[in-house]
Amino acid sequence: TGLFTYDPGFTSTASCDSALTYIDGDQGVLLHRGYPIGQLAEHSSYMEVCYLLLNGELPNKAELEDFNRTITRHTMVHEQLSSFYKGFRRDAHPMAVMCGVVGALSAFYHDSTDIADPLHRKISSHRLIAKIPTIAAMAYKYTVGQPFVYPDNKLSYTGNFLKMTFGVPAEEYEVIPAVERAMDRIFILHADHEQNASTSTVRLAGSSGANPFACMAAGIACLWGPAHGGANEAALNMLREIGTPDRIPHYIERAKDKNDPFRLMGFGHRVYKNYDPRATVMQKTVREVFEALKVTDPVFETAMRLEEIALNDPYFIEKKLFPNVDFYSGIILSAIGFPTTMFTVLFALARTVGWVAQWNEMISDPGQKIGRPRQLYTGPTQRDYVPIEQR
Ligand code: CMC
Repeated sequence: TGLFTYDPGFTSTASCDSALTYIDGDQGVLLHRGYPIGQLAEHSSYMEVCYLLLNGELPNKAELEDFNRTITRHTMVHEQLSSFYKGFRRDAHPMAVMCGVVGALSAFYHDSTDIADPLHRKISSHRLIAKIPTIAAMAYKYTVGQPFVYPDNKLSYTGNFLKMTFGVPAEEYEVIPAVERAMDRIFILHADHEQNASTSTVRLAGSSGANPFACMAAGIACLWGPAHGGANEAALNMLREIGTPDRIPHYIERAKDKNDPFRLMGFGHRVYKNYDPRATVMQKTVREVFEALKVTDPVFETAMRLEEIALNDPYFIEKKLFPNVDFYSGIILSAIGFPTTMFTVLFALARTVGWVAQWNEMISDPGQKIGRPRQLYTGPTQRDYVPIEQR
């Protein structure tokens, strides 16, 4: 490969140092700042995990209260931003709206875009984490033709998001604690995942000195793809298409057929060659949400049966393909009331802290350089220009 290492898809290239997240894909281990994801999902809150990712340590009580106060101070968005939404078609995909609106944030908050100033970086980071639920809820409200709901800072980060999404001005909105807890846990499970495609995109965009709002918009655009964050939407659509367990074998055969582009969505991972620890928590959460809402969904049975069949199939065993975080998340989100088009938006909301923390880590790294991969050129060798009459 000449002067460079040829590594399409960066399967064996480390692009940075990072102290945020550790993954052991063979063992199915995920740690944030050393803490196992299972413990964080069980005992912690999303706000605590945000603090942990940003600051390196879990907060004490006073630090958490202070952090909560700081975040809630920024939950509103510039009133002019609502007009921005109105330029979109009502039937636009909410991720398309997110790409546009988040991309526009630096036009509203340019007073915190001097990335050389640590205070600007801090304010921008807090603004992004605080405003993203408001922006995401507004994307939803716009598509369903309901008025935007202002943030309610008496509520938790997650409770407030649920109210902004499902509340209407005509009625009191009551947050259901079990739903709030499940949603908070889903946010924790998506908070960071080291150098995945969207995080690498954020870092690459940031490496040129672009402002953090612009970098987040780049991350959101990358996340949208069905091989990445778009998989949660694709996974539930697939499960609904499969419908009943008796139809599973047909889809398993399709997934194994190399002439068929169909893949089992929510299955397989670049790094995990074992069960994704986030999928374990997600599966448990499905049951909790069903119980709390007194609902059920036949698609859950289809999903569990599909998992069982796939995990006993030589193709999936040999290729070490296991359910990933996106396999069960859609079932929970759908039970809570989100349309599938919002699933990737929720992923983006939760991943914002990871992007922000990784961006900060990169900017603070004195060894940081502009990201600039090389290539293996495969075009023609040098040749002389031919006048058009002679071609
Ligand atoms: N169904 C059927 N076959 C699969 C699947 C699948 N879901 N995933 C991988 N394979 C096969 C693939 O065809 C390939 O076979 P072969 O070696 O014969 O060519 C082998 O397994 C390795 O796959 P790959 O595409 O080379 O692996 P990758 O590391 O480049 O891709 C992946 C990882 C997640 C993009 C892929 O597994 C996939 O497309 N999964 C479905 C989409 C999905 O669930 N994405 C969410 C990932 S987790 C959350 C996130 O990152 O956002």
